[in-house]
Amino acid sequence: MPGAGCISMEQPEIPPGPKRRDFIKKSCAVLIGAVTGIVPAISGLLVFLDPLRRKAQDNDAVLIASLSSLPVDGVPRKFTVVADHTDAWNRMPRVPIGAVYLRRIGERQIQAFNVICPHAGCFVDYDLSKKSYHCPCHLSSFRVDGKIADPKSPSPRGLDELEVEIRSNNEIWVKFQNFRAGGKEKIPV
Ligand code: FES
Repeated sequence: MPGAGCISMEQPEIPPGPKRRDFIKKSCAVLIGAVTGIVPAISGLLVFLDPLRRKAQDNDAVLIASLSSLPVDGVPRKFTVVADHTDAWNRMPRVPIGAVYLRRIGERQIQAFNVICPHAGCFVDYDLSKKSYHCPCHLSSFRVDGKIADPKSPSPRGLDELEVEIRSNNEIWVKFQNFRAGGKEKIPV
């Protein structure tokens, strides 16, 4: 039997008072607010990233010309590249995005070059009489196969060759890309 001086260690259960109810209510409100805020935040992030996702699609191959439009003697022909273009947050359908030289190197084999000079970005011309490409800006010259012709050419590399394939028997498709000018390495931009 406990003596008169003994103190019990058990604490009586305190019923939830107004302060505790307030705390629970506020916690629930914060949690619901956080959950409902996440949904628009994720949607906003997806919209923000969308142009970046679309940019990847710009690197798809583009139909340039028909195989029959290229002379069989290997003389290059210049073609404008027309494709959908994503600029910052806008998508512009069917606009000129560059130009390429195409030449036959076999019955069904094509070589494709970007027309931009790798030195500083001018457009090169093809000189039929010299059978080579020339840049009017600082006089780089390139052989018909794209390699540097004159060793004094300031261009640090030959013309930028592009991936090309023939589809549906007569269509020439090119994976059009621009590359950083001024360096030996071919770095896509
Ligand atoms: S831009 Fe072509 S040689 Fe300089």
